[in-house]
Amino acid sequence: MTSATATAEIPPPPTHYREPLHVGTLRLASRFTLAPLAGYTNLPFRLSVREQGGVGLCTTDLVNARAILEEIRKTMDLLATCPEDRPLAVQIFGSKADEMAGAARWLVDRGLADGIDINMGCPVRKVVKTGGGSSLLCDTTGATVELVRRVVEAVPVPVTVKMRLGWDDDQLTAPYFARQFETVGAAAVTIHGRTREQGFGGHVNHDGIRRVVDAVHRIPVFGNGDVRGIADAARMVDETGCSGIAIGRGALADPWIFRQLTNWVNTGDPGPRGTYQERIDFMRLHLRRLIDWRGGEKYGCVQFRKVATWYTKALRLPKRVQQQLVMLADLRQFEDLIAPFAAAGPPPGWGEWDAQQAAVPVPAGPIAHW
Ligand SMILES: Cc1cc2nc3c(=O)[nH]c(=O)nc-3n(C[C@H](O)[C@H](O)[C@H](O)COP(=O)(O)O)c2cc1C
Repeated sequence: MTSATATAEIPPPPTHYREPLHVGTLRLASRFTLAPLAGYTNLPFRLSVREQGGVGLCTTDLVNARAILEEIRKTMDLLATCPEDRPLAVQIFGSKADEMAGAARWLVDRGLADGIDINMGCPVRKVVKTGGGSSLLCDTTGATVELVRRVVEAVPVPVTVKMRLGWDDDQLTAPYFARQFETVGAAAVTIHGRTREQGFGGHVNHDGIRRVVDAVHRIPVFGNGDVRGIADAARMVDETGCSGIAIGRGALADPWIFRQLTNWVNTGDPGPRGTYQERIDFMRLHLRRLIDWRGGEKYGCVQFRKVATWYTKALRLPKRVQQQLVMLADLRQFEDLIAPFAAAGPPPGWGEWDAQQAAVPVPAGPIAHW
């Protein structure tokens, strides 16, 4: 599909999408944000995606508030950032207001966060059993709202909340909470249009997201879920009235999605998709940054193995290359493996559209791993 045909099929964005969007005191360069994806949205990936253009705000993987206060080594790695990685929200999870407020202050005092995002969407058992993540959406006694108020009061930067529609279809508490969070000073909410019970199954409920949009008075609501391209984004905006869109898996499959969305907003034409060569360059960049971040080829390559499968699928590399990439030992091996494909260019029939659709692994059920 060419960019011209894509334009013909996709309605223009609402004109106000060209106006700058503020999240509290932060003025975003675009209305499209990178949603947190634990294990993926670390510094190497964020930097690589930002360089492709069009990203308004990135968020870290979810980080345990208590582990921040205890300065646990692994947690400190997740907090790694640099001046090119801004604006950045750090997403924290926990169930104790003291710890959450303390962790937020710790982060802001060290200049590590332009915003604090509170996780209320995580369905994973390890998070929920502590009373954090999506289980906070069950507590309408006031403790959840109080937790947000405490974090807002603790820091001078914008505090946002990322949540699901509710625990299950009988408890769609997100509109109620969004309004309450606004009242206590939250600067925005991001709403994944699924319940906790749904996990990652079924469809995103745009009507549910619209109810959240309708519930708040002035803060922006970011719609989230299953946006893999411009047409999905257009539908999300049209059907929910959201102020912006948070994109997770779509950015893993297609790091150029933000660039295209921003072009679409500014000109009506999404412009070119990521090319085969750009995909190879992106994969190399990502690997090099993982090596820097992990402090060595061995550890960086181990980290890369996790993402190697979807790169090889998107590039339609042969199975034997995939098998070697998921066992990658060093950069030299990577370059040797990739060189013939970089030189040959895309295989016959390869289309950027196919590559965008390359599957990204998702958790199997609501309480499985992320
Ligand atoms: C592997 C994986 C890890 C995730 N990690 C987080 C996380 O750390 N914090 C969070 O709020 N949501 C997390 N999510 C949920 C995403 O941010 C997002 O809400 C969800 O994937 C739907 O959006 P998408 O279709 O654009 O990916 C994760 C999702 C996946 C698939």
